[in-house]
Amino acid sequence: MNRLTGKTALITGAARGIGLAFAKAYVAEGARVAIADIDGRRAQEEAIEIGDAAMAVGMDVTNQSSIDEAIARTAAHFGPIDILINNAAIFTAAPIVEIELADYTRVFDINVAGTLFTMQAVARHMIEHGTKGRIINMASQAGRRGEPLVAVYCASKAAIISLTQSAGLNLISHGINVNAIAPGVVDGEHWDGVDAFFAKHEGKPPGQKKREVAAAVPYGRMGRAEDLTGMAVFLASDEAEYIVAQTYNVDGGNWMS
Ligand SMILES: NC(=O)c1ccc[n+]([C@@H]2O[C@H](COP(=O)([O-])OP(=O)(O)OC[C@H]3O[C@@H](n4cnc5c(N)ncnc54)[C@H](O)[C@@H]3O)[C@@H](O)[C@H]2O)c1
Repeated sequence: MNRLTGKTALITGAARGIGLAFAKAYVAEGARVAIADIDGRRAQEEAIEIGDAAMAVGMDVTNQSSIDEAIARTAAHFGPIDILINNAAIFTAAPIVEIELADYTRVFDINVAGTLFTMQAVARHMIEHGTKGRIINMASQAGRRGEPLVAVYCASKAAIISLTQSAGLNLISHGINVNAIAPGVVDGEHWDGVDAFFAKHEGKPPGQKKREVAAAVPYGRMGRAEDLTGMAVFLASDEAEYIVAQTYNVDGGNWMS
């Protein structure tokens, strides 16, 4: 398939998990991809594994000069950026009475400000180059409703849905489509951490939380990163030209809205 032939994509948080699956799927569709991550070493290993259509970029989405440098390096190597996936994020959990300001600030800096200011910088770059680009933000089912122990992360993902609406409405006047994907529960290193948290706070044996969430998915299992790649390719393709400011659930039926 060649739905993204000739396109340059920058994917944040792509050294592992869902972002890495997106990078591989985009390369398979003919794109050149910058694997941007705060874990520059792992990004480098994965880029080498993928080959010439991938490059590694050490990038911290909370740092403006790092954002600007990632854009400049990607464009210098592969040409102007056509597609951005704002995928980098961290998870945190705590009962309301134990939430600490430092933790809240760290999550909002990475998940919300990181998405907003990477989106802003790439949108400026696209406008400057006259690129009718695509921006895909990673929301979550956690952004659709709160959860008792996950207030800060849920709020950060609700913010992504809102930012996608505002940015989508604003940037379509430049021919830039902004949309989001809301996954459900996707197994991987992220969920290893979630499972460990619930093991500690709810006294569940390791693996128990994963079994519980898997059993609750209408499809019948947790998601895999590869379950999300079809939507990520579609939203970046010509077929999605008329789609603006939407958030799509890709979650095995967990959430309907
Ligand atoms: N896994 C799930 O169940 C799930 C569900 C819903 C939404 N999501 C969202 O999907 C996206 C990817 O999730 P995942 O499971 O692959 O996560 P993950 O934790 O496996 O990967 C996140 C990546 O982001 C990178 N990162 C962290 N801070 C960064 C920073 N400041 N700058 C640049 N990179 C940074 C990490 O190094 C890591 O490689 C996230 O936005 C997440 O919130 C995941």
